[in-house]
Formats: sequence, structure tokens, C-alpha cells
Amino acid sequence: MILKVNILIVVFLLLFLGCKKEEVEEEIFQTTPYDLVIPRGFPTNINIPSDNPLTKEGVELGRYLFYDGRLSGRNHPDSQMSCGTCHIQKYSFELGPNNPQFPDGHPHGLTGIKTPHYVLPLINLIWNNRGYLWNGMISESNTNLGSVAYGVPALPEYHMRNIESLVWMGIYAPHEFNGNSEMTVKMISSIAMYKPMFKAAFGDEQVTYERISKAIAQFIRTIITSNSKFDQMLRGEVQLSTSERNGLILFTTEEGADCFHCHGQPANPTMTTHDFYNNAKDSVFTDPRDRYAVTKRKQDHGAYKSTTLRNIELTGPYMHDGRFKTLEEVVDFYNYGLVYSEYAHPLMHKLEPPYGNGASLNPQQKADLIAFLKTLTDHEFLTNPAFSNPFEQ
Ligand code: HEC
Ligand code: HEC
Repeated sequence: MILKVNILIVVFLLLFLGCKKEEVEEEIFQTTPYDLVIPRGFPTNINIPSDNPLTKEGVELGRYLFYDGRLSGRNHPDSQMSCGTCHIQKYSFELGPNNPQFPDGHPHGLTGIKTPHYVLPLINLIWNNRGYLWNGMISESNTNLGSVAYGVPALPEYHMRNIESLVWMGIYAPHEFNGNSEMTVKMISSIAMYKPMFKAAFGDEQVTYERISKAIAQFIRTIITSNSKFDQMLRGEVQLSTSERNGLILFTTEEGADCFHCHGQPANPTMTTHDFYNNAKDSVFTDPRDRYAVTKRKQDHGAYKSTTLRNIELTGPYMHDGRFKTLEEVVDFYNYGLVYSEYAHPLMHKLEPPYGNGASLNPQQKADLIAFLKTLTDHEFLTNPAFSNPFEQ
């Protein structure tokens, strides 16, 4: 009898300890904070939503999802598309010239419908606090939550506010995946590989569209480029050539080429203000997706984001409508191609006398300016394994 009781006690104890162990396991679910290093001289006001902190596990899951064609909700290779289809690392997360799938540099979705504008690079977006897309439609201050304007139905979860919402825009938009959240969640849930990854990032294996968008947004926020020749010069490691240095002086002076007001400078090494301007390309404005479409302020007709000029030599065609194929064409435009309109931004000083239609640089100065722009290329970044396609490693 005593023995029986003892055995019972042991059984109880085992059961009890067993439960306890499970409880403890649940309690100790924790993620590893991602070690984000802010490069010297870069701003410290970074954009990380409070409900989606960067974790090592989340970033890793996001990297796989970013490159997985099955995110489109389809299994057949011909009908797959991933974020990496249009945002390609070696072209600074743009399409690059001579893309076999999109030879004119203008991408289209699985439907064949072209994207309304040309691609934007996904670099250093963690410093963007002023809205995403060429017209800034996705922003923290957006009151137009949920819209059918881009083919995306109004969803309560779809906030149109940050990188998280752009994941869903990509999945729904007819000019991108042309899918929907049910298809994507079903497809990703059916892939065994992802189960432990969701568990590590979010505590259990459940795949939801909120988790998918959070993980991809986390990955995108880690994509930082800060080791160009320009950065190395700022850190005192290398010197610019005479031509590059003259180009930097032109870039950062009003009497020179006058680029720095909108595109950064040594004191703002993101090389963008993240703001929107009409940079005097046209006199008539008909694009229904310019900055005016978002703000309805008259002065925003024909205004777009002043993109970062980092890695700019790799991201042609240039401007929201890809009108310039090469950097030479862009510099020719700023040099003598400016077009006056009442909407041209006041910072386009070269519209004023004695200039009128551009900076009037001589051929040597033009070459110097381009030489400087090319110092903004970060070659190490373009193959950094932390951002590369994990399915090709
Ligand atoms: C078919 C090509 C294509 C695919 C696929 C694609 N994108 Fe894009 N992406 C674009 C284009 C074009 C733009 C610029 C759109 C605009 O502003 O009009 C853009 C812009 C963005 C931006 C805004 C960048 C900025 O500086 O404001 C983010 C973020 C982004 N995409 C993330 C994604 C994610 C995440 C995916 C995958 C879910 C994805 N993209 C898939 C073409 C694509
Ligand atoms: C008043 C602000 C302003 C000034 C000054 C300015 N830019 Fe821009 N820049 C912009 C805007 C806005 C865009 C995007 C316009 C568009 O897409 O329609 C742009 C686009 C560009 C692009 C193409 C970016 C891309 O990703 O396609 C390059 C290159 C460029 N600018 C270089 C320069 C240079 C070089 C100078 C000086 C000669 C200069 N900019 C002066 C506002 C400015």
C-alpha cells in the first residue's frame, strides 16, 4: 500500500513537473533584439513603429518572405512574383538596366499591367519619416486609410501608414502580385520550412497577414548602405580625386550646381531630405498620382520625392516616369533643361536670372559632378550576404 501511494506521488510529481516545464517554456519565448548600428554621422531619428521592433528572428523570416515567389499565393514558377523581382540587391534594390523581364526598365505585375511609376530603391528607409512612394501617399499622418485607388480594397488591417502596409499593397495591386491575403496566408502556411521560423519570430507557428507584413517590413528596415567612397572620405579613410572633389563642391554650392538643398550633403549623408518638390521638368501636370493627389495643396502639382542619390549610378532610368536613361541625361537636364512653371519649387534657384534654364556647367564641371555622384556607390552593400536572396545561397 505504501509503495502504491509512493508510486502515485511520483506519478503526480512527474505530471506536475511536466506541466510546469511546459509553462516555463511558454514564458521563456523571447526574441533576440536586432543589433542595429547607426553609421557615424547618420541621423538618429529612425522610423520603427512601436508595435514592430526589430528582432533577429523577424528580420530573418522577413528576408525569406521578401525573396519567396510563393508570397504571391501561387505555386507555379510562371505565376510567381516576389518583392525581389523588382527590388534587386545588385541594383540598389531597383530593377537595373537591361532587366530581361522588364527591358524598358518599367516593371509590370503578373497581369501585365505596368506600375504607375518607375521603381524606388529600398535603401536606408529606416531614416524616412516623411512618407513612402514617389508621392508620399503611405505615411504616418495618412487619414485616407484603406483605398481602392491602387486596386487595394479597404481593409481594417490595411493602414496605408508604413512599410508594413506596402507589403499588402504589393500583394493586392494588379500591377504587382494581383493576389489577396487569403491566398498568400494559405500558401505560406502550407510550407513546412516556415513553421519554425514563425514560431521563433512570433511565438507560435500561426501564419497571419499581419505577421508576414511585419517580418518583411523589419527586413527592409535593416537594409542600410553607408560604405561608399563618399562615406570613406567622410570618415577620413580615403581622399576623393580632384575631379570628384570639384564635383562635391559644385553639388553643395548655390553658385555651383545647387543640388544639396534637396538631395543631402556631408551633414545629411542620407543624401535626401525625404521631402517632395517640383523640380521643374514640365509646364503642364496631368499625372493623377503626384504629390498634389495626396495633399491637394496647389503648390504640390508635379511634385515628387527627392530620392536619395546613394547608388544612383545603378538605378536608371531616372525620375518617377523614367524619362532620363543615364546620369548624363539627368545632369544635362539640370544644366540647361529646366522648364519654368508657377509650381516649380522655389529651391530650383537656377530658374532665376542670370541662369533661367539650368546651372550652365561647362563640360569639365559636368564630368566632375558625375564623378562625384559615382562616389555614392557602395560596392560592398551590393553583395552583402545579410540582404541577399537566401534561396540562392
Ligand atoms: C512589379 C514590381 C514590384 C514588385 C513585385 C514590388 N515592388 Fe515595391 N515598388 C515598385 C514600384 C514601381 C515602386 C514605386 C511606386 C510608386 O511610388 O509609385 C515601389 C515602391 C516600394 C516601396 C516604397 C519605397 C520608398 O522609398 O517610398 C516599398 C517600401 C516597396 N516598394 C516594398 C515592396 C515590397 C515589400 C514588395 C513585396 C511585397 C514589393 N515592393 C514588390 C515595384 C515593385
Ligand atoms: C528643388 C529640389 C531639387 C533640386 C535643387 C535638385 N533635385 Fe534632383 N530631384 C528632385 C526631385 C523632386 C526628384 C524626383 C522628381 C521626379 O521623379 O519627377 C529628383 C530626381 C533626381 C534624380 C533621379 C533620381 C531617381 O531615383 O530617379 C537625380 C539623379 C537627381 N535628381 C540629381 C540632382 C542633381 C545632380 C541636382 C543638382 C544639379 C539636383 N538633383 C537638384 C529634387 C531636386
